[in-house]
Amino acid sequence: MNIVVAVTGGIAAYKTVHLVRLLIKAGHDVTVVPTEDALRFVGTPTWEAISRHPVTTSVHDDVAKVRHVALGQAADLVIVAPATANSIAKMTAGLADDLFGTTLLATEAPVLIAPAMHAEMWRHPATRANIETLRGRGVHIVGPADGELAGGDSGPGRMSEPEEIFAAAQALFAPRDFDGVRVVISAGGTREPIDPVRFLGNRSSGRQGVALAAEAAARGAAVVLIAANISGDVLAAAQHPSIRVVTAGSADELQAAMADAAPEADVVVMAAAVADYRPVAVSDRKLTKETGGIPSIELVENADIVAGLVASRAPGQVIVGFAAETPEDEQELIDRARRKQQRKGVDLLVVNEVGWDRGFESADNAVHIFGDEGMPPAIAAGSKREVAAAVWDAVRATLSSDRI
Ligand code: C5P
Repeated sequence: MNIVVAVTGGIAAYKTVHLVRLLIKAGHDVTVVPTEDALRFVGTPTWEAISRHPVTTSVHDDVAKVRHVALGQAADLVIVAPATANSIAKMTAGLADDLFGTTLLATEAPVLIAPAMHAEMWRHPATRANIETLRGRGVHIVGPADGELAGGDSGPGRMSEPEEIFAAAQALFAPRDFDGVRVVISAGGTREPIDPVRFLGNRSSGRQGVALAAEAAARGAAVVLIAANISGDVLAAAQHPSIRVVTAGSADELQAAMADAAPEADVVVMAAAVADYRPVAVSDRKLTKETGGIPSIELVENADIVAGLVASRAPGQVIVGFAAETPEDEQELIDRARRKQQRKGVDLLVVNEVGWDRGFESADNAVHIFGDEGMPPAIAAGSKREVAAAVWDAVRATLSSDRI
């Protein structure tokens, strides 16, 4: 998509750099239109480097290409972040004394604004009236959040985080085919404690599960995300009003969290990498060399959480399993997947090939999605968000219509 990111003069402009990065990483073509004032906070070289397009504030540059209206006309979406009180007033009045103003007047694309200002300015009747006018014209508004503001104040007025603005932008174009559907997703990797400082773990970052949560929420679902040891920056992509995050550390904790959330769900997705075994005994004190000898850790099998969920599933509930495999070839992948799908009793099994340099911790993924026995698996590859979209397409086709 062609996206114009208009940046107006607020300190939150520094966060918009990250927003532009997210949009570009998702494959969009982004042109940044800052105001003169915005350039006092973040300069032209940064915007040009990050968007890979020339940046100007003036309607007198590139006149031959009628740039003052061309950007707005060509845009599929215009995002204003941060949208200051002044720029909101300007948009409401339809002023067009710079490239920001002309671009917004010339566009017929959806407009999404992320207000950022002091709490008093946000609450002022003038701003309230302007926001209502813009809303009435169909402008989409994300935030502002309640939090710390420049100068040590706090209150409503803080610009939403880039991930949230990104999600709001995605949501404008996502199909709403999961409206009213409740989903529970486990993501990340469990850690089985050995002693207070050590654990048995795995390399799952939780990115694919977080992408599944973000995509489901964008398509209208109410999501509970059970997060097992996912870092804050990965989890940031799950910031969405329809996503509730519950944390779980070990397989036992994950099982309890799933047992709590799953009965209410229409769809359960077990994307978490669950340890098959845990140490029999957890030492209260750190094991040290002085403990003597090379310690051996005796293991006991963890419950198969997804199998338990299948056994107690609510009527019509769709259950999706994941499997990370290191097959020799395609045929082995298919054979193993079909056996696992049967053994676990899941409706869909999403299989990704993993290896030392594949699958884990990366932004991209490639999967086979196994559904009906008689049907060949669907294949999806791309960003983890794109893979998530393919998984939800498969779920959508499986979910009976009375659940939607
Ligand atoms: O057998 P495997 O571990 O490959 O199966 C993976 C699938 O089973 C995933 O959906 C994972 O979340 C789930 N699983 C589970 N409980 C376990 C182990 C795996 O629910 N103890």
